[in-house]
Amino acid sequence: MRLKEKFRAALTASAAEGGRLPFLMNDMVIEEQLCQMRCSYCLTEEYNLLMNVPDARLRLTTDRRQDWHEILDMYHEHVDAPILRLSGGEFFWLKGSTEFVQEASRRYETVQVITNGVFLNERRIEALAAMGNVQLNISLDGHTLELNRHRLPPKQAKLHDVIMRSLHAAAEAGLRIDIQSVLTDANYAGQLEFARYLRDEVAGSTTLYFFPVRGDTAERMGPPPGDHLMPLVEHYDEFADVLPPRAYVEHMAEQLKTNVRTLGCFVTATMAQLFGQGDVSACPHAWVKPMGNLAQDRKLLLDQYGSHQHYDLFMHDRPRFSFCKTCATPSDVINLFFLDRITEEEIGATHLYSGERSRARLRELKETFRPVISGAPATGQGVAQSVSS
Ligand SMILES: C[S@@+](CC[C@H](N)C(=O)[O-])C[C@H]1O[C@@H](n2cnc3c(N)ncnc32)[C@H](O)[C@@H]1O
Ligand code: SF4
Repeated sequence: MRLKEKFRAALTASAAEGGRLPFLMNDMVIEEQLCQMRCSYCLTEEYNLLMNVPDARLRLTTDRRQDWHEILDMYHEHVDAPILRLSGGEFFWLKGSTEFVQEASRRYETVQVITNGVFLNERRIEALAAMGNVQLNISLDGHTLELNRHRLPPKQAKLHDVIMRSLHAAAEAGLRIDIQSVLTDANYAGQLEFARYLRDEVAGSTTLYFFPVRGDTAERMGPPPGDHLMPLVEHYDEFADVLPPRAYVEHMAEQLKTNVRTLGCFVTATMAQLFGQGDVSACPHAWVKPMGNLAQDRKLLLDQYGSHQHYDLFMHDRPRFSFCKTCATPSDVINLFFLDRITEEEIGATHLYSGERSRARLRELKETFRPVISGAPATGQGVAQSVSS
């Protein structure tokens, strides 16, 4: 049996009554072409999506919440997930975005929005904080403009102050914030100072997730192989307040030494990529062609999970697909948990996975996949028990 078939057999056997797949997260990308920034490494551009959006103005100013809810309804007919991770484009550029987050926050335990931070004005921050279960994931490559030079070209330099003000305001409002810092030749040496800045300025609300740039751009602007993150490993305890679990920092430091991934990846066993118009693809971190569209096939994920040929690329004991061989993402927290390098307590202390249902789902997925990942026999009941809503 191929590994993908084993994952499929394990998860579908655990599917709750009604046959819904018990995923960890719904990773949803809406209007991925529409962003007002032009980060030079952006994957969206690499996939050629930013080009030619002739009706961009109309799409920005039309409230499409109804359509997005319909897609969520279709998705959840056959998939259960306690967490929604929402991204764009720049999602907060879209009309109705805050209202949509509010509405979506009622159907998930936790909602996290990935944003470049530019449109986080005071009113929006207040509204998001009042929702209670909404978190921010702000993309920021360092605390200085220079460290952000691949995000902010000279023409957009003024935005740096805007983003930093947003970060402080969001922290003051009590929002939990993850920061995604994409490591390139511009900032690989600045992460310890970035961590120091966060610890001194916004400790208690902020966690810094760094990971090397992915895709073809990595060859042009990725960090050279080296020991760049070792200072953070060595001084982990000093910065623990603003860092992910220790094993995450160690893993990133290790991968940066060679720029080759050796860690197994089980991300596609726990989630898929949903697009705002209903397309679904296998991995949220590598945009391959969609497997299909939910509007045409409601049972798409139930039927294709671990079965579609794209899973041959992703589901292996170690990275084999060329993209996977250089991939690293904040989702590696999940991989390290499944591989017993991050404890349940540690993963439960992260922002994204801190909810009770999310922790239970992680526990159950780990148990369900244990025989697939390690060959060891499972001891528990699998995922069936705690699947709800
Ligand atoms: C595509 S952006 C969309 C959301 C929003 N516009 C933002 O900048 O946060 C989502 C995340 O992907 C990251 N990203 C973009 N290109 C990347 C690449 N080549 N490698 C790794 N991460 C990348 C961004 O920094 C951001 O954190
Ligand atoms: S290694 Fe990266 S691209 Fe490959 S399956 Fe995992 S997250 Fe997706």
